[in-house]
Formats: sequence, structure tokens, C-alpha cells
Amino acid sequence: MKTARYKINELEILAIPVLHDNFVYLVCRDGRAVLIDAGEAEAVFRTLETFPQPLDQVLITHNHHDHTGCCRRIQDRLNVPVMNPGIDAKAIQVLGTTCSIISTPGHTRIHKVYHFPEQAVLFAGDTLINGACGRILDGTAEQLFSSLWKIRELPDETRIFGGHDYLEENMNFALSVAPDNAHVKARLELYRTDPAAAIFATLAEEKKTNPFLCVDTVEELAELRRRKDSF
Ligand SMILES: [Fe+2]
Repeated sequence: MKTARYKINELEILAIPVLHDNFVYLVCRDGRAVLIDAGEAEAVFRTLETFPQPLDQVLITHNHHDHTGCCRRIQDRLNVPVMNPGIDAKAIQVLGTTCSIISTPGHTRIHKVYHFPEQAVLFAGDTLINGACGRILDGTAEQLFSSLWKIRELPDETRIFGGHDYLEENMNFALSVAPDNAHVKARLELYRTDPAAAIFATLAEEKKTNPFLCVDTVEELAELRRRKDSF
């Protein structure tokens, strides 16, 4: 997939594919930008050459190498501060608009997602990844359950930008859970013709296609995640 460019309310979002299947996001408003995650530097520098924006800061979702590996290079070259995911969950101003930092442990013990409520946009890192959720590594199923509920409670029109392109695998897994789900089949079909449109869905679309948003208990979530781990 090539870099996808979105205009959502007042934000311009460039979804830059990096490494094997990660995304970093250049988020722009009023002639300034922030970067979400920093798994690779060269693709970011190239994007900034063709789409020059002064970068205010880098916001990190969680401390996995594929999300942080080039933080230092980007920091050194562009002289920008980095927001560590250990920061307190609170609302701050980013690019002159509200950014609500939400704590969503589960994939990792410390994980933040960045919600821009006035723009109806969520950067979900590896908590919710187009059609599924991140693997439970050093967090717990209880934490992940509560984190996914926090996301579920956001407005349905929120457009979600996760940390990876796992859409095809995730939709195939969703079909193994609910073989007749027409929404899943349609999302998979859309992926073949317009991958970005299928990957960056709204929360309303996620609720219809993401089995991890359909569980009612921690135990159900843990069991579903175990099935996915060996899918
Ligand atoms: Fe991760």
C-alpha cells in the first residue's frame, strides 16, 4: 500500500506504511504536524520532503521496537520532543485541538491511544488493529477487556488508525468466528480494491466486523484471543 492521505474534519492524516506491516501517521493541522509512532525514519523524512510541515512532537503508543525504533533518529534530525506512553492519561492540546490520551493496557502493560474528539479520530496503536486487537503480551486479558470497552464507548463516527495492516488476516479470522457475517465479507472485498478504505474504518464499522468488540466477558475475550494466537 502507498501512503494514504485523509482529510478528516480539520486534520490531514498521512498514513505512511513502514517496516513489514506497520503504519506511522503524520497528522497535520494549520500548517503544523505531529507524528504518531516512529518505527522507521527514512519514510518519514521522505514524506516531510514532499509534504513539508514543521513537526511539533512525536507521540508514542507503546514501547515496542516497531513503534519506537527510529525515535532517536527522528528526534536528532528534526529536534522534536517525544511523548512517552508512560505519560498520565489526560486531555491536552495538540496542533491546537484537543487530544485525549487514554490508557489502554493489555497488549502491553503500558499503552496509550490518542483520541482527537473534536476531529473524530483515534490513533489506536496495537490495542485495536483493524478488525482485531493486539496480542496479550505483558498485559492481561482483564486490562485488554477494559481497554477495548473504553474504545467501544467513543462516538461511532470515530475513524480508527491502528498500528498495523493486519486486515486480511483479521477478516479471515472474523469469518472463522462468524462465517455468515456479510459486513466482514464486504470489508475483505473492499480491501482487495481499496485497502486504505478497508483498513481505516470507523468505530461503527469495527463494531460490525471486529469479533473482539463483540465479547461480553473477560473470559470470552481471553478465549477468542487464544484462538487468534494460533490461527
Ligand atoms: Fe506492539
